[in-house]
Amino acid sequence: MTHPRGTIPSPNIWHHTATYELENRAADPDGRLWDAMAARADWTDRVVLDLGCGTGFHLPRFAETAAKVIGVEPHDGLVRLARRRLRTRAVSDRAEVLAGTAQAIPLPDSSVDVVHVRWAYFFGRGCEPGLVELDRVLRPGGTALIIDNDGSRSTFGAWFRRGYPHLDPPAEIERFWSLRGWTLDRVDMGWRFASRADLEAVVRIELAPEVADEVLRHHEGVEVDYAVNLWSKTF
Ligand SMILES: C[S@@+](CC[C@H](N)C(=O)[O-])C[C@H]1O[C@@H](n2cnc3c(N)ncnc32)[C@H](O)[C@@H]1O
Repeated sequence: MTHPRGTIPSPNIWHHTATYELENRAADPDGRLWDAMAARADWTDRVVLDLGCGTGFHLPRFAETAAKVIGVEPHDGLVRLARRRLRTRAVSDRAEVLAGTAQAIPLPDSSVDVVHVRWAYFFGRGCEPGLVELDRVLRPGGTALIIDNDGSRSTFGAWFRRGYPHLDPPAEIERFWSLRGWTLDRVDMGWRFASRADLEAVVRIELAPEVADEVLRHHEGVEVDYAVNLWSKTF
């Protein structure tokens, strides 16, 4: 299958979609990340863009209070699943999903108030075309929220560093965003699973088999201390 230019492969959600759903359900069980996002941007009665929305897990939550929610996603199969989610959650009148990428957002200039970008591998070093697009689609005074792993702390942060040693070190990532005027909130989001089997399945789609075996051997229970970075900027 071919994907639009600029698409970054996401093996976890592309190939293990049902397990990725368990991961989304387990994340942020006490709502700390949502609280931190709401402290940086108010989307009540506003237009929200969820960029790289995957299966649209977060769209219904935004649709509870936003005037309109648009998901943009390059993977055809996930676009279809996200649209189906909107229909089954009866929010199709306030939310839609478009095929597209961060580098070529299929929306007019100055048409969005809040952009949400979660677990976005496509927003790292070299993502300048995507940042230019954010600037284009956001109305003046609009806010972008980017959520990503914080490899500098927490149990999951340590697992992540072991699993992805080739990624930029946390200090480099912070430098990249800070230099461009983004503000950092450190959030102890956490994972809490319904069962040990769910936790193990999710760890196995996020880490290579030998790293997953090793971390699971040393970790008990259904919860994981998991820190994320919320980067925000008002344009
Ligand atoms: C790890 S998933 C996260 C999905 C969703 N944000 C969530 O929290 O459930 C990353 C998503 O980004 C999408 N993606 C990859 N490259 C992209 C790009 N250049 N622009 C926009 N989305 C992209 C992938 O197809 C995938 O659905």
